[in-house]
Parts: sequence; C-alpha cells; structure tokens
Amino acid sequence: MKIVVIGGTGLIGSKVVQRLREQGHEPAAAAPNTGVNAVTGEGLAEALKGSSVVVDVSNSPDWEDAAVLKFFETSTRNLLDHEASAGVGLHVALSVVGTERMLASGYFRAKNAQENLIKASSIPHSIVRATQFYEFFKGIADFSTEGNKVRLPPVLFQPMAADDVASAVAKAAIGPPVNGILEIGGPEKFRLDEFIRRGLVARRDPREVVADPQARYYGIEVKERTLVPEDDAKLGKIRFDDWLAQAAAQIPSALPQPTGAVGTREEESHKKAS
Ligand SMILES: NC(=O)c1ccc[n+]([C@@H]2O[C@H](COP(=O)([O-])OP(=O)(O)OC[C@H]3O[C@@H](n4cnc5c(N)ncnc54)[C@H](OP(=O)(O)O)[C@@H]3O)[C@@H](O)[C@H]2O)c1
Repeated sequence: MKIVVIGGTGLIGSKVVQRLREQGHEPAAAAPNTGVNAVTGEGLAEALKGSSVVVDVSNSPDWEDAAVLKFFETSTRNLLDHEASAGVGLHVALSVVGTERMLASGYFRAKNAQENLIKASSIPHSIVRATQFYEFFKGIADFSTEGNKVRLPPVLFQPMAADDVASAVAKAAIGPPVNGILEIGGPEKFRLDEFIRRGLVARRDPREVVADPQARYYGIEVKERTLVPEDDAKLGKIRFDDWLAQAAAQIPSALPQPTGAVGTREEESHKKAS
C-alpha cells in the first residue's frame, strides 16, 4: 500500500515512515526538503499519485497566531483537494488532546481549524489526538522559567513518548477510517509540576519547579483535566522513567546539560513558539 507521510522527515513523521516500512508498506516521506510543500501545493499532485492513504504529521515552522492558522488551514485544504483528485481513501492527521479546551491559544485555534476542515471533507478520515510528547519536557520548563524557578499549575498531565505516538499513527494509517477522533495518551498520569520536576532532576537541571495554581501552561489557563484524554483513550507503553534512562543512554552528553544549553530540534521549536 502506498502511503504518503506529509511531514515524514519530522520527529513523528520519520518514526511513522520507519514503522510502515517495517510492516511491508511503501511509505513516502513528503516535506519541503523532499520537494513537496503542502502550503504552496508544490509537488503534491505527483506525490499523491497512486497512493491509498495520506498521513499528515506536518507542523508549522512559525507559531505566531496568524502564521500557524494560515499554515494548517492552507495545507489541510490543499491536501484534501489533491486527495479527492487522486482518489485517496483515507486521511490521517495528528492533533492534540484537549484542542477544543485550549482555544485561547493561537496554536490550538489552528489545530481546531485543521480538524474542522478534515471533518467537513468528503475524504474518509481518522484524527489521532495525542497528549504532549516526553521529548518536549525541557521546552515546557523553559517556557515557564523565571530566574531559577519554573512555575507550573499542578493539573493532571498524561504525556507520552514520540515512539508510542508514531506507533498509534501508523496503526491508524493501515486501519479503517473512524471518521472522527481517536485519543491516545501515556501510560501514567502525573501532576504537571511533578512531571517536569522529575525530568529536570534526571537531567541534573538545577531549576526549582514550583506548583502554582495561578500559573499558566504555554500562556493559557488550564483546568484539572484540560490536558488529559478521556478514559477510553488508547495508552502507550513507554513509561517516563524508562524513556529518560533510554534518552540518556542514547545521547549521554544530553544528560548533564547546564541550564540554557542548546536543546534538541523539538525543544528549539517550542522555544521559537514563545
Ligand atoms: N508537541 C506535542 O506535544 C504534540 C502533541 C500532540 C500532537 N502534536 C502534533 O504532532 C504533529 C507533528 O509534530 P512534530 O513534532 O513531529 O513536528 P516536527 O518534528 O517539527 O516536523 C514537522 C514536519 O513538517 C514538515 N513541514 C513543514 N512545513 C511543511 C510544508 N509546508 N509542507 C509539508 N511539510 C512541511 C517538516 O519538514 P522540514 O523538515 O522540511 O521542515 C517536518 O517534516 C504536529 O501537527 C503537532 O501539532 C504535537
């Protein structure tokens, strides 16, 4: 089965491509640096020719309110139009748990617009909503840092590993369309402050994490259950402590980073959003 993965060179996309290939499918990674641009439409018709499924795990390079809205609206419209012309039978997109509860944020208004375009289209679809990725714990801390303190609301948080997200997206790509939303989350629930504290301690980051009910999450107010999925969500297998140990083993130099050191690509992109 030919499956086009839009954003197939990114954090999630590259893992989705790998899983689909391991399962004997023919995934094609599509992104600007492979000559496919979902916003301008460049290369889309050619890339989608003969494909049964399109998986959209792209992300906007610019998270300013108007820019991110334009990215998700334009790219999603372009993809759905080209899919209709090419006879694609399934559109899978990755969104975020709680999107409709965080519309005070421009990023989530853009994800909401993306979801609504997909729901209104004639293409059979599955929208996978994931919780936050473990990979972004330092980005969350950096965003909420003042001096040596990280202030975060002690709300429920159920993050997951990018590997588990990719497995769920790959599974959705080869399954039947649900024509609605599938929620996925991590295997453990934390308090947001506790999760970040645990990550920073593991990285020997000296910042103090303070539970502050008035603090915001990425600039928006969140309630007890804003960030967690419903009880019927499918849960990933990788626990945070195991992920931390594995990440430290893979990139030993990442462990004792002093505060302010250059982060990973995904951490940097979260910084950009601020
Ligand atoms: N962060 C979270 O915790 C979280 C939680 C749930 C869901 N999500 C969702 O997960 C998705 C994937 O995130 P990620 O972290 O894997 O993203 P990422 O690593 O930043 O990768 C983004 C991908 O999109 C591609 N792209 C950028 N502009 C494009 C364009 N005009 N046309 C086609 N492709 C384009 C990039 O290509 P280049 O490499 O060529 O730039 C790259 O392959 C996002 O939609 C996000 O909303 C995130």
